[in-house]
Amino acid sequence: MEEKIINEERQGESLVVAGISENKRKLFIESYGCQMNFSDSEIVASILKDQGYNTTQNLEEADLVLVNTCSIRDKAEQTVRKRLEHYNAVKRINPGMKVGVLGCMAERLKSKFLEEEKIVDMVVGPDAYKDLPNLLKEVEDGRDAVNVILSKEETYGDIAPVRLGGNGVTAFVSITRGCDNMCTFCVVPFTRGRERSRDPQSIVAEVNDLAEKGYKEVTLLGQNVDSYLWYGGGLKKDFKNATEMQKATATNFSALLELVAQAQPGMRIRFSTSNPQDMTEDVLHAMSRHKNICNYIHLPVQSGSTQVLKAMNRQHTREEYFELIDKVREILPDCGISQDMIAGFPGETEEDHQDTLSLMEYVKYDFGFMFMYSERPGTMAARKLEDDIPTEIKKRRLTEIINMQQKHSAYRTAQFVGQTVEILIEKESKKSDAHWSGRNPQNTVAVFPKENYKPGDLVMVKINDCTSTTLIGEAVGYSKQD
Ligand code: SAH
Ligand code: F3S
Repeated sequence: MEEKIINEERQGESLVVAGISENKRKLFIESYGCQMNFSDSEIVASILKDQGYNTTQNLEEADLVLVNTCSIRDKAEQTVRKRLEHYNAVKRINPGMKVGVLGCMAERLKSKFLEEEKIVDMVVGPDAYKDLPNLLKEVEDGRDAVNVILSKEETYGDIAPVRLGGNGVTAFVSITRGCDNMCTFCVVPFTRGRERSRDPQSIVAEVNDLAEKGYKEVTLLGQNVDSYLWYGGGLKKDFKNATEMQKATATNFSALLELVAQAQPGMRIRFSTSNPQDMTEDVLHAMSRHKNICNYIHLPVQSGSTQVLKAMNRQHTREEYFELIDKVREILPDCGISQDMIAGFPGETEEDHQDTLSLMEYVKYDFGFMFMYSERPGTMAARKLEDDIPTEIKKRRLTEIINMQQKHSAYRTAQFVGQTVEILIEKESKKSDAHWSGRNPQNTVAVFPKENYKPGDLVMVKINDCTSTTLIGEAVGYSKQD
């Protein structure tokens, strides 16, 4: 659970699902990076299921190896490179095996992978997964296959993802793709393209389907969920002008949240990620109106200095962020809040760094994901700003930020001791097979002795003790909601 405090990109996890018996070919699919990548891999597995592929966890027996890649920081790319070397070693034993790169590294490194280094057979960008059947034919015919075209429309709304290796209790449902925010440090707008929203009907249908299959919690996913906007069944380009568009019934994020919350009142609803500049009060009110929308907001700020925020092209000041935090606390007094923070952005002074620490002191986040600035090729920061903070200083600042977070996490978990909180049981505790593990609405992990309960149960747990990341308690009965 430490990874919550010092976030690493999720390390490669190869996930499997029960396949179809007629399917004879084997797919090994591994995902790195953000939740969206894991979610996309489920779409890919669904498309390939119809092409005769079942998933396997055994790399050696795979006919096709796909790695869903992350470009967010240099380290993430290095990890994937090492994996590609490993696949190629296996390929020497199993020459029939084909290797493909999916996701964010596809666009940037396609020619390097295919032509210069010849370490992969196929490169597929995040918007081209429906082209996989054609690309696989190319590969079978002995040609390299590549499609990294980014789309303004693709949302995969019509594809029912197969759920890979989940716990059967919690699932992710993507609601937007891409990002238009252009934060100067961030590669996502380049690797994942323009922002587009998926139609609400298909989102609700997917949530209903998950409920039918016994899932108890969904997280609505997007780079920036608050800018979700669907215009009465059409796309922006389908309207003559802005007024026509306004007249059509638009579904914004708070309306979508209500739709989903009402469709499945017995299910927990979460969402991620919120951008401070786009988060509106009506989202907070929707959360307070519906008990099943969890009181937890992942609200990355990146820096506590207005000057750095400006250089990052974040559209708010330190003071505006405080106002938003005050609003959250006013409307949702028991809301969990987490952060993303970057240490050592170009030009960051010691004073800016102190501003970050004092902002953290003000908010006292429940937990956070903290990173050293990593220059990404092609971003505005890489083109216009010198990566001028020495690594030693970046490291020291990051350590101070992490230490501060550790203190606040311990403070937050301690607040729950003595309380009885609602926990959705997800799985067995990693550390003890005699304990269940789940999360409270604020997204803090709790563990407690198993007794008669099972994964998927919503139980009330009396918290007796805690660490800085985990609540420790005992179940006192089912939640009344259950
Ligand atoms: N809105 C997105 C952000 C994606 S990137 C979301 O859904 O979370 C996740 C986090 O990685 C960012 O919030 C930022 O803190 C960090 N990050 C992005 N680019 C980075 C870079 N170049 N160097 C260091 N950290 C970065
Ligand atoms: Fe990246 Fe900023 Fe969008 S961090 S994903 S450009 S909100």
